[in-house]
Amino acid sequence: MKLSAGTPDAMPPGLRSITYGIFCWANRHPGALRAIGAVLRRWPFVGGWLGTAARADAVKKVLTRPNSFSNTAHAANLSAGDYLIGMDPDATYKTDKLLLDGRLAVLDATLPAAADLAVRDYVEKLRPFGKKSFDLIENYLMWIVFRAMHPLFGEATDRVAAGATGSLDDPGLQRQYLLEIRYVAGQLLAGNSATLRVQRRAELNADALSSRIAGVGKDIQLAWGTSCPFGVIKRNAVGLAWISHPVTVQSGALAVQELLGRPDVHKALRAQAQQLLKMGPNQVWEDKAFRKLVQDHVLELLRFRPIFPLLARDVPRDTEFETGARHNAKCPAGGKMAIWGIAAMFDTAIDKDISQFSPARNWGANEDLRWLMFGYGTRQCPAMVYAVEILTSALIGLLILPELQLARGEGKAIAYDGPLMSQMRVSFI
Ligand code: HEM
Repeated sequence: MKLSAGTPDAMPPGLRSITYGIFCWANRHPGALRAIGAVLRRWPFVGGWLGTAARADAVKKVLTRPNSFSNTAHAANLSAGDYLIGMDPDATYKTDKLLLDGRLAVLDATLPAAADLAVRDYVEKLRPFGKKSFDLIENYLMWIVFRAMHPLFGEATDRVAAGATGSLDDPGLQRQYLLEIRYVAGQLLAGNSATLRVQRRAELNADALSSRIAGVGKDIQLAWGTSCPFGVIKRNAVGLAWISHPVTVQSGALAVQELLGRPDVHKALRAQAQQLLKMGPNQVWEDKAFRKLVQDHVLELLRFRPIFPLLARDVPRDTEFETGARHNAKCPAGGKMAIWGIAAMFDTAIDKDISQFSPARNWGANEDLRWLMFGYGTRQCPAMVYAVEILTSALIGLLILPELQLARGEGKAIAYDGPLMSQMRVSFI
C-alpha cells in the first residue's frame, strides 16, 4: 500500500512530525531503547499488554512461529513493491528465495578476498586526506560494500548502477544509484511514521529503481543465467538492490560510531593490527586469529547498535504468546507485534554480565542469539555471514590507518537523515 503526499493524512498536522521525531531519536539512542527493554524484560506482563516480546526466550518463540506472527507487517513499507522480507512463506516466497540463494552462493567464492581487495584500494585513497576530515560513508563504506557485493548482479552490476544508457564507470551515476536504494531501504526502517515528504521521496526513488531495473532486465537475466519470467527477475532484482547495500553500509557506520565511543577497545584492537603490520604488509589480512577477533568485535559493536532494534509482525489470527510472565499474552487477530531484539540481546538470562561490552564472551548454547541483530529463525537474514565478512574487512582497513576520530570543529560530525546516518565525518589524529 503506497501512501502518496497527495493522499490526505490520517494524522493531525504536526503530530506526524512529532512521532517521527521521537522514532528517529530513539533509533539514534539505542541506550534509551535498552533501558525501556530492561523494564519490559523485568515485568514481561507489561510487554504482554503492549504486544511486545522482550525476553530472549519470548523473542525466539515469536520469531519461530511465522504462521502466527507474519512478516507481512513489512509489506506496507516496501515502497518498491513486494519482496521476500514482507512475504508469507508461500510459493512465490519459495521461488524468490531459491533465486536469492543462488546469488548469495556466488559470494561464498569471492568473500572475504573481494572485500579485502576493495578495502586495500580504499585505504590508499584515504591516506592522502592527512589531517583533513572525510566522510566515512561517502569516501569508504559505500564503495567497499558496492565492490564486495559486485557478484550479486555479476556482469550486470555496472549497468544496473549506470542505468540503461549511462556511462559505465561514471562515479556520479553510481552515487545516484546508491542514494536511490538508500531512500527506498530507509522506508523499511521508518515505516508509516515517516513524514509524507520522506515517504514521497521513497516512492519517487522506488519508481526510479523500478524503471532502472526494467531498462537493464536483459543484462540481469544474462548475468544470473536464469530463464525466469521477466516479472520474477524484476521483483527480485529490485528487492536485492535496496535490501543488500544500504543496510550493510549503515551497519558499518554504526559499528564504527560505537567503536569510536569506546577508546580503550579501539586502542587495543589497533595495537594488535599495528603489531601484525610490523610483521609484514599481508600479515594483518592473513592472520586468521586476528580476523576472528575483529569479527567478534563487529558482532559485539552491532549488538550495541543494531540497525533493526525492533522488528514488527502482523497477527493474522487470534493467538497468544509466551512473554515469560505467569500467563500468556493474548494477541487479537488484525493486531501487530513488536519484537524487541535489542532487549533480548541484553537479557541477563543469557549471561549475567551481558550488559558489558565483551567481544570474547562465550555464548555457549546461546551462540545463535549472538546473531539476533540479523533476526532469528526461518526469516533470519540469509546474508548475515557475508555482511559480517564485509564489515570485518572494512574494520581491518580502518585499524591499519592512522587512528580515527570523529571530525571536530566544522559543525556536527554525524548528520542524520531520519533514523539513518547520512554522513559521518572523521579525521585521522
Ligand atoms: C549488516 C547488514 C545487514 C543487517 C543488519 C540485516 C538485517 C536483517 C534482519 C534483521 C532481517 C530479518 C527481518 C525480519 O525478520 O523481519 C533481515 C532479512 C533479510 N535480509 Fe538482511 N541484513 C543485512 C544485510 C543483508 C544483505 C547484504 C542482504 C542481501 C544480499 C540481505 C537480505 C535480506 C533478505 C532477503 C531478508 C529477508 C529474509 C526472509 O524474510 O526470508 N540482508 N536482514
